[in-house]
Amino acid sequence: MLEWSEHFETHIELVDSQHAGLFVLLNKLADCFAIGVPSEEMVEQTLQELLDYAHQHFTDEEAMMKERNIDPQFFALHHMEHNSFIYDLSRLQLHSNADEDAVQTAENVVRFITSWLVYHILGVDQIMAAQLRAIEQGMTPEAAYQANKSIHRDMATTQLILNAVLDLWRGTTEHCRVLEAELLALKQNI
Ligand SMILES: [Fe+2]
Repeated sequence: MLEWSEHFETHIELVDSQHAGLFVLLNKLADCFAIGVPSEEMVEQTLQELLDYAHQHFTDEEAMMKERNIDPQFFALHHMEHNSFIYDLSRLQLHSNADEDAVQTAENVVRFITSWLVYHILGVDQIMAAQLRAIEQGMTPEAAYQANKSIHRDMATTQLILNAVLDLWRGTTEHCRVLEAELLALKQNI
């Protein structure tokens, strides 16, 4: 269960309300598995709902950054993170059809989304918010970018990010192992 807390706040109303909405949908997806093995349609429908919401949120966030003239280097980096999330998730879904049982796959998907959201919201989204605040106070986008490439975080937030990164890394190595095994099986069948 991922709970919304002040650590996640960017103090930009639209962004915070959409991030909170993502948490609600993610918990809804996790809840599907709290009652045993859910139907495939139920998981697919909830996952799709989450993906659609994430897509809309990324679009809105990017439109806001453009509108407020955020530094183009930062925009490109942020846009890349959004795209890689959508891409990774579609890979996970594709892979889920190949093998592994449904529950294992779903657990991987929930874990991936949770870690990614925590990492992203506490990382690049906070940096974005700091830059937008600086621009609002009269700094040029370039200066706002230079002054806020990274930000100071308290211990609790740093710990949350570290856990999320470790989880993402663990998920990636597991994913690589499965792919490696598949590749080996393919070679043996040639
Ligand atoms: Fe973002």
